[in-house]
Amino acid sequence: MTLTVAIDGPAAAGKGTISKAVAQHFGFPHLDTGLLYRAVGKCILAGDDPIEAAQALKADDLDGDDLRTPEIAQAASKVAAMPEVRSALIDFQRAFARRAGGAVLDGRDIGTVICPEAEVKLFVTASDDVRAERRFHELAVKGHEVSLAGVLEDLLARDARDSARSSAPLKAAEDAVILDTSELSVDAAIAQAIEIIEQRLKAE
Ligand code: DC
Repeated sequence: MTLTVAIDGPAAAGKGTISKAVAQHFGFPHLDTGLLYRAVGKCILAGDDPIEAAQALKADDLDGDDLRTPEIAQAASKVAAMPEVRSALIDFQRAFARRAGGAVLDGRDIGTVICPEAEVKLFVTASDDVRAERRFHELAVKGHEVSLAGVLEDLLARDARDSARSSAPLKAAEDAVILDTSELSVDAAIAQAIEIIEQRLKAE
């Protein structure tokens, strides 16, 4: 049996937290696909060619909290608009998605391009202000010197680029269930995601 849970949505909507919790609940491995693009983004900041970096990417390159900086997030969004970079990363993601047992993947195009046949698709979203607050707190706790206005500007620039690109833009799959976490606590958002997945599975 293979059961793929595809979780897409804009930056800082709660996808990562929900995906990890859902993966743990169902006992599935989890892939944060943003890390692939962040790892390539880190390489271009170091002066490397993005396509070669994407083709040479290894699982080890995805480790480490140093990929979660605002600079790398912007670089990731830029390399993610390059079709050759995206195609170099497809096989790894598809193999992960369809591994025996099941898997949870979160990103921007999992339900639309990477795994359109996923058994369950969620599109996790939240208002711009809520997303900026959450990301601001995450970064401030880690000691990054950021302002709320700067974080909001960064998120909006990234969402605009991620949504406008021609190759696999950020958008909800037609059969995705939309989960708006603006007014939800972390626990409530996770509980709703698990409920949606269980309902979908019963309907299968
Ligand atoms: O999820 P994240 O914020 O770590 O993603 C960083 C960037 O990577 C994001 O701005 C767009 C890109 N990305 C993508 O294009 N497709 C994915 N499946 C995941 C991330």
